[in-house]
Amino acid sequence: MKILAIESSCDETAAAVVEDGRKVLSNVIASQVSEHIIYGGVVPEIASRMHAQAISGVTAKAMEDAGVSYAELDAIAVTYAPGLIGALLVGVNFAKGLSYATGLPLVPVHHLRSHIAANYITHPDFEPPFLCLVVSGGHSHIVAVRDYTDFEIIGRTRDDAAGECMDKAARAMGLPYPGGVNLDRVSAEGNPALYKLPHPHVDGSEYDFSFSGLKTAVVNIIHNAAQKGEQVSVPDLGASCIETVADCLVSNTMKAAENFGFSKIALAGGVSANSRLRARMSKECEKRGWELYMPELKLCGDNAAMVGAQGFYELKSGNIAGLELNAFATMPIDEQN
Ligand code: KG4
Ligand code: ZN
Repeated sequence: MKILAIESSCDETAAAVVEDGRKVLSNVIASQVSEHIIYGGVVPEIASRMHAQAISGVTAKAMEDAGVSYAELDAIAVTYAPGLIGALLVGVNFAKGLSYATGLPLVPVHHLRSHIAANYITHPDFEPPFLCLVVSGGHSHIVAVRDYTDFEIIGRTRDDAAGECMDKAARAMGLPYPGGVNLDRVSAEGNPALYKLPHPHVDGSEYDFSFSGLKTAVVNIIHNAAQKGEQVSVPDLGASCIETVADCLVSNTMKAAENFGFSKIALAGGVSANSRLRARMSKECEKRGWELYMPELKLCGDNAAMVGAQGFYELKSGNIAGLELNAFATMPIDEQN
């Protein structure tokens, strides 16, 4: 079964053709980073306009790279939530137009579900049930993936997402957008023990996260140093920040896995590209003899191949939308069924 997938939830316009949820026939991504870099972050209106400009060319290229015609496709899958609403609407409307013109079924895909599905591409034999740490620019969740379309949120952030925290810390350190990626790069040789940062404690749930205090602590260290005319060591402060985020993410995930009886763990989302997080997760899982699955680096960030992978399982479970499909800026991962 071949699915054309469209993704436009943030600042990448992407299209891909995926066979049976696992085999990527094409994967085209037009990144808008160079457009947003001067603003230090994604400007939603610019993102929407860039998607509108790029989407038909990106889709044509994905079809050409895959070497398939519309007659050979079985469905059109599209990210419809969560994300920047103006950005999502471009992809959703384009996919609706394709569905209308071709008569192919339209499959709505939740963005975080698709991040999880990136693992099905990287690991062809990987199947639910498993526990997944989903960490992106907007979300930090510990999710029990009971089946391909059956999810339960076990832990979540109470404030900032892990990616958002690292992006803001990176920005305060003077690093360019996209912050998390650059923070990872400059921190490679840093000493994570040099700066003592708070390990946020969240009352009420042992699996929830809170990253806004950590972000503020990093900003305060930078401001205090500036007031004294001193410079912070960006590699060391960056390494300390990442280490603290990784500590929180890894320890809550391990606790959740132990208490809910999972020994199969996965990582997903843009932050799953972080080298320290990958290394820490690998070490902790290895210590316990657990299996760890991580998407290959090129599938960690936003792409449409992962949408095609999840779209396959959504289609199999009968999740087909009508042409009245809308986009949503927010939507819990366990709401769609
Ligand atoms: O999943 P994603 O591409 O978009 C969203 O759905 O939000 O995630 C983007 C987030 C950004 O916060 C970005 O800085 C972060 O993932 N990120 C990283 C790394 N690569 C991307 N954070 C830390 N280390 C990285 N290597
Ligand atoms: Zn994403």
